[in-house]
Amino acid sequence: GLLSLSAVYADYFRMGAAIEPEQTEGRTAELLKQQVNWIVAENAMKPDAIEPAEGSFTWERADRIVAFAKANGMGLRFHTLVWHSQTPEWFFRDEAGQAMADETDAKKRETNKKLLLQRLDTYISTVVGRYKHDISSWDVVNEVIEPGDPEGMRASNWYKITGTGFIETAFRAARKAGGPDIKLYINDYGTDNPVKRDRLYDLVKVMLEKGVPIDGVGHQTHINLEYPSTQSIIESMQKFHDLGLDNQITELDMSLYVYKDLSDVGADVPGDILQQQAERYGELFDALRTRKELLSGVMFWGISDDHTWLSTFPVVRTEAPLLFDKQLQAKPAFQAVTGF
Ligand code: XIL
Repeated sequence: GLLSLSAVYADYFRMGAAIEPEQTEGRTAELLKQQVNWIVAENAMKPDAIEPAEGSFTWERADRIVAFAKANGMGLRFHTLVWHSQTPEWFFRDEAGQAMADETDAKKRETNKKLLLQRLDTYISTVVGRYKHDISSWDVVNEVIEPGDPEGMRASNWYKITGTGFIETAFRAARKAGGPDIKLYINDYGTDNPVKRDRLYDLVKVMLEKGVPIDGVGHQTHINLEYPSTQSIIESMQKFHDLGLDNQITELDMSLYVYKDLSDVGADVPGDILQQQAERYGELFDALRTRKELLSGVMFWGISDDHTWLSTFPVVRTEAPLLFDKQLQAKPAFQAVTGF
């Protein structure tokens, strides 16, 4: 029979996949049960899914994913308490309905900041309170670093209204609600890029010195056939490991495209491309196994090529970034990752 990713990696780290509630039933569910011991909600635990309007929480879809994990003895990640995207507008409007980020009066800005941080604290204590016994790894903030923006911090509503206050409040609120056992992560993409990595490092260091409870770094790791190098992925994890932090690869997939060439390779991916993908996946996992002390888990952003966010982002196109194909059959990449 087919090998199981999580069984093959039992002595190394957890192996998981992002899922939608619909995928807790049917063929995908069967594949997940066989292959992974860890899952994360692809969308169902984002702020717009959980609290679309202030005070009205919609737990049903998130609960389905938790129930699936529990029924099958899988661990869970939470993604994500704070983000600039997929977050409802109500967070960022004052009582009069004005956008807080546009406020110019200094006193009113202070009041707005307090209100937003209060809302954040309430949101986080509610969500963490609900799932703290079920979910051990939490993305507390997602994508807050942006080297092109002032101070290297993404100019989101969160940052414009509170500075780095939202980061501090979010981690403290998560720890307060979740206790010492849940693990709290700062998650981002492009953490292999030295400029972005170092900005993230500096932020985390300052936060830790202030006593902000950060346990680890989540590296999204949306990579492609050529970039970034395996070595740069390892080097970044090494840097945070030296700071005493855990690392997790949180959204792994491998686009067939390099950004200089957006042409469609067509519905059938050529065998040599799948082979190239297998070699690169193999090389990455060889390195991760060799340095297993650097990380506690690898989460794929999906399980099979029939369902991947890359088929519409940044343009509609044929993609095949995962270890299983559209028919849910193991690809050469699966053989490369498990055949050692
Ligand atoms: C993506 C989902 O996969 C899509 O279904 C959704 O439309 C947009 O978000 N970085 C993240 C994830 O942190 O939350 C994103 O997920 C992919 C990029």
